[in-house]
Amino acid sequence: MTRIAVYLTGSIAAYKGIEVVRGLQKMGHEVRVGMTDAATKLVTPATPFALTKAPVLTDLWDEHSTPIPHIELADWSELAVVVPASANIIAKMATGLADDAVSTTLLATTSAPKIVVPAMNSHMWLAPATQRNITQLKQDGVNIMPPVSGRLAEGYAGRGRLPEPAAICQYIEDFLTSSQALKGKHVIVTAGGTRENIDPVRFIGNRSSGKMGIALANAAVQAGAKVTLIAGQVTVSLPQTPAIEVVRVTTTEDLYISLKERFSQADILIMAAAVADYRPVETVGHKIKKKDGDPHLTITLTETIDILKNIAKMKQTGQYVVGFAAETNDLLENANRKLASKNADMIIANSVAGETGAFGSDQNQVTILQKDQTPIKLARQSKAKIANEIIELVSAKLKSGD
Ligand code: CTP
Repeated sequence: MTRIAVYLTGSIAAYKGIEVVRGLQKMGHEVRVGMTDAATKLVTPATPFALTKAPVLTDLWDEHSTPIPHIELADWSELAVVVPASANIIAKMATGLADDAVSTTLLATTSAPKIVVPAMNSHMWLAPATQRNITQLKQDGVNIMPPVSGRLAEGYAGRGRLPEPAAICQYIEDFLTSSQALKGKHVIVTAGGTRENIDPVRFIGNRSSGKMGIALANAAVQAGAKVTLIAGQVTVSLPQTPAIEVVRVTTTEDLYISLKERFSQADILIMAAAVADYRPVETVGHKIKKKDGDPHLTITLTETIDILKNIAKMKQTGQYVVGFAAETNDLLENANRKLASKNADMIIANSVAGETGAFGSDQNQVTILQKDQTPIKLARQSKAKIANEIIELVSAKLKSGD
């Protein structure tokens, strides 16, 4: 049994939200409902009130309700589902607006995961602003069950229809099951690129965006884990949820120190960071100036520590270590070598060559290598989906004790 807050918003599909409430109750969950003003024009609050036998949150200023109703419902809920989610509530959630009972409660919901099930006219769904807001919500760790194509209330066909209530209930149930997989486990994910300073204004860096590591951190949270994200240089915003402790590092040395301090408390380490292999022998204390008559500048580099290799040596029974292999050629051969040489339990091999390479993209194509097992080649898909598959596989490994 999970305590689920269902939020109905102003979409013509609001009546289907009521069916979702019933479906979740039949599955044994305890449900409470919040409604926006627009939703109350489409469905009367008396219906969810009769079903849930609990006050329906519609107004922040209702003098007969509990003293701070939005905080009370936010804290009570173990899962928040916005169904149907209008373009308006999606925009508010994406920007953190809190100007009515539902948006305020959703903003105050920090520990419970959120599922958003959009339903709207296809033009509104495809509008760049809505798509931008959806991308933002995904980055914030919100789960989106996408709308389906079909006949819309406007009388024509398009994408924007709410999925059937039974499918939504199943999605929620699957989410709740998978969100137990890493309950009680601590996962450390490293993400982004390290930087090695040449002088106070210049550095050696790499093209890592941090997207894969962030997707893995979000997926681990969804699976119920406590997550520490150790992030180097990233080009996207870092997750801002209390479920993820974010630690910032700059150099390879910083990353190593940070990881060494924490590794013994972790059940799983995922090294998605793109770590510099070389650093300048010395970091010059002042800006290096051009020299008249000498067009050359020599910077002598020295190897950095191989973090994964050294940390994985400290592995105790029950700890699981995942590394990445970024290759431009001979992908599997090189990645297999890393699996053995770095003492990793799993290596995620990805190509960083050319236009379709992993760096910076929202998509990736990876092959998962494990000792004495046939490689698993995943389809080219979003980094979020790949992250879910990796976390699912690692959870299963941890459970089976392999
Ligand atoms: N890694 C690490 N410390 C380093 C270099 C890499 O911990 N100094 C980790 C990466 O986070 C990744 C894995 O090792 O999980 C493989 O990284 P990759 O850059 O693909 O390989 P390298 O070890 O750098 O080897 P090469 O440059 O020869 O491909």
